[in-house]
Amino acid sequence: MSGDTLDIYIGKRLTATLKRDPTRTEVRFSYHPSATEPVSLTMPICDTEDVFAGLPPVFETSLPEGELLETIFRKMGKVIKLADDFDILKLVGRNLIGRLVATPSGESPDSLDVFTGSEGLTALLRSSDSKALVTQAMVDLAERTGISGMLPKTFGISDGRSRLTIPAGAYIVKTENDEFPGICIVEHACMAACRNAGLKVPETLLSDDGKSLLVRRFDIGPDGTRFGFEDFCSLSVVGRKAKYEGSYESVAKILFLFTTDIERDRRELFRAFTMMQLLKNGDAHLKNFGVLYSSTSDVRLSPIYDMVTTTSFIAKDSPALTFEGKRKWLGKKGIARFGINRCGLEEDETNAIIGECVSGIEETVPFLKTLSERYPADPVLRTLSTFQESASPSG
Ligand SMILES: Nc1ncnc2c1ncn2[C@@H]1O[C@H](COP(=O)(O)OP(=O)(O)OP(=O)(O)O)[C@@H](O)[C@H]1O
Ligand SMILES: [Mg+2]
Repeated sequence: MSGDTLDIYIGKRLTATLKRDPTRTEVRFSYHPSATEPVSLTMPICDTEDVFAGLPPVFETSLPEGELLETIFRKMGKVIKLADDFDILKLVGRNLIGRLVATPSGESPDSLDVFTGSEGLTALLRSSDSKALVTQAMVDLAERTGISGMLPKTFGISDGRSRLTIPAGAYIVKTENDEFPGICIVEHACMAACRNAGLKVPETLLSDDGKSLLVRRFDIGPDGTRFGFEDFCSLSVVGRKAKYEGSYESVAKILFLFTTDIERDRRELFRAFTMMQLLKNGDAHLKNFGVLYSSTSDVRLSPIYDMVTTTSFIAKDSPALTFEGKRKWLGKKGIARFGINRCGLEEDETNAIIGECVSGIEETVPFLKTLSERYPADPVLRTLSTFQESASPSG
């Protein structure tokens, strides 16, 4: 039955099929004879069929979560059967992050058109109620939005005048929820600090009302080329529910297994770990690290994303994964141990990188001060204190 078979494309190339068992208990994966690239770095091309209890992790970890998933159920649950992850992938599989496309067997792999105009974008950024516009776009495009994460998000932009929602092209659009007011302002500042600390960071644009953030997609190149992307749940071959079940040691081990630029990534991962510690980001779980690749011979740690001072929202928050068996904020010596023992760096180099991270945060303090004057919400002010503490000589 074609309804229970999905064709998997990489770009326009038919690469594999996923078949759901009639009892809905197993999913069978097999490569197509024309496959030239694997669907996951953990699934080399082979000519035998693989059987999974649910979706293979590379697909499962791409699926919507949080409010987007709830919206999909609310909007589509009465129209079509949404019994399991396979049904959700069938719905959103044309528009996933990365280079994979999943379509019902025999259907074209064409996805959302890429929007290049700036009209909707400007309307969103200048709006006095961007949250309403993002929420509207999220509802309008829900069944065509294959992206994970708990915050409300969409690949569309509502122009604010008509009920017209257009694809946002190279941007992910996210907005705050009731639980974390001010989170987009905090993320915008943390991403700026990471950029100033020398990390690769996608462009972020904050709406004037401070409630929404546009994040430029790094899985889409300037000419529209799509890159492979896998988070560390996928690389660890575990499902999304296991995102807090791991250690930073295992993140390092797995990265060094797959990267094709180990010298660069020793430093890049250490820098990211240092910023996570200094900025007190307690949500750097396995889905908030990823690798980006153009082919299996060109794999690197992806640019940084979702960097947020979570202690500004949950005062006692601790790191998302363990290091040396504990979820604990570290001083500079502890941070350096990750670089020396797990990233294979010399002590001098770890100290130099920590110094650059501190300077990056220091350099971002005036920017965050300006943001906090404009948006004097408590979490923003608390983030400013964290930046100032991390940037102080004793920090
Ligand atoms: N700039 C980007 N380009 C491409 N993909 C991205 C980018 N930023 C994030 N992603 C992907 O989108 C997912 C969701 O984004 P993000 O982590 O920012 O959302 P979130 O709702 O804040 O997540 P969380 O549930 O971890 O708080 C990420 O896990 C990653 O797969
Ligand atoms: Mg995330």
